[in-house]
Amino acid sequence: MNSYWSQYVQKTEELYLSRALKFHRGNIDKWASIMQLCDGMKILEVGCAGGLLCHRLKEHLPNAKITGVDFDVGHIDFAKKKAKELNLQCDFVAGDAAQLPFEDNSFDICYSHTVMNFCDPEKFVREQYRVLKPGGKMIVMDVYARGFKPEEWVPTENCEEKELFDKVWVAASESPNSQIKRYEDRTEKYSSYLAAQGFCHISIDTMSTVKYAPDFDNVDAETARAQINDDRMSELSSVEKAYKMAPKALSKSEYQSLMDMINRRYDKEIKRYESGEKKWEFRIVTTVLISGTK
Ligand SMILES: C[S@@+](CC[C@H](N)C(=O)[O-])C[C@H]1O[C@@H](n2cnc3c(N)ncnc32)[C@H](O)[C@@H]1O
Repeated sequence: MNSYWSQYVQKTEELYLSRALKFHRGNIDKWASIMQLCDGMKILEVGCAGGLLCHRLKEHLPNAKITGVDFDVGHIDFAKKKAKELNLQCDFVAGDAAQLPFEDNSFDICYSHTVMNFCDPEKFVREQYRVLKPGGKMIVMDVYARGFKPEEWVPTENCEEKELFDKVWVAASESPNSQIKRYEDRTEKYSSYLAAQGFCHISIDTMSTVKYAPDFDNVDAETARAQINDDRMSELSSVEKAYKMAPKALSKSEYQSLMDMINRRYDKEIKRYESGEKKWEFRIVTTVLISGTK
């Protein structure tokens, strides 16, 4: 086990906030329904990171037995701590998706969200087949299409910001720590791995959610600020991670000045939002769910 992911790829808090917006309390019933989860089931999330979705599902299905597994011990420690804070009985276990630390035929449902492309797909599916009860269901969720505004951020208004950002990321991308292995990037191939391991009734579904739309009247002020700050957090932690990988790329004052510029840009964005000036920007995320029955 390691803490590579939470140190160099996505910080636990960053993932937790982003997922808290996607799997929020107002739509968790829709997620549970599209995943066909029922109270009392034994459910496993593979690659659960800080455990947000396990926490939300446990609140929604109090009699379900929910377990999250992830190979990053930083994520798992966070998930356990948060469950305690929220007074939720979930189990979080450090373990590899390619060698799940569970008995055969143990779970009714195994699901994952944006994990399969980072794992050997055959082992990933085989292990979930093994730990599922006969008749149990595996669900692979992936973000298939993103709408209207590209995910990647490119500061255009401030050239100094872009210059420093590029400088640190060009250097970081040469670091061995920036290389994450991706196995199978094509979501459309996932079903064939499920079929090859013996899953039947393979089906596909999608769910679209609003990722960012702070100016709309059906987004309350707290969520609107959280959406803006979610973007801020992913930019700040992107720079933080790059600097950790390439500490010589920027001087300390350049690094601080880049972080300050990002913060100022988002402070301005929050002020704009609070002043009532509308931009009407929005982003929609489509999640594809591929499932099969053992
Ligand atoms: C993109 S993140 C998604 C996390 C979480 N499912 C979510 O949507 O917030 C991928 C996660 O998979 C975990 N992961 C990657 N390979 C793994 C493996 N072989 N075994 C267990 N966890 C793995 C990482 O540590 C990370 O938490």
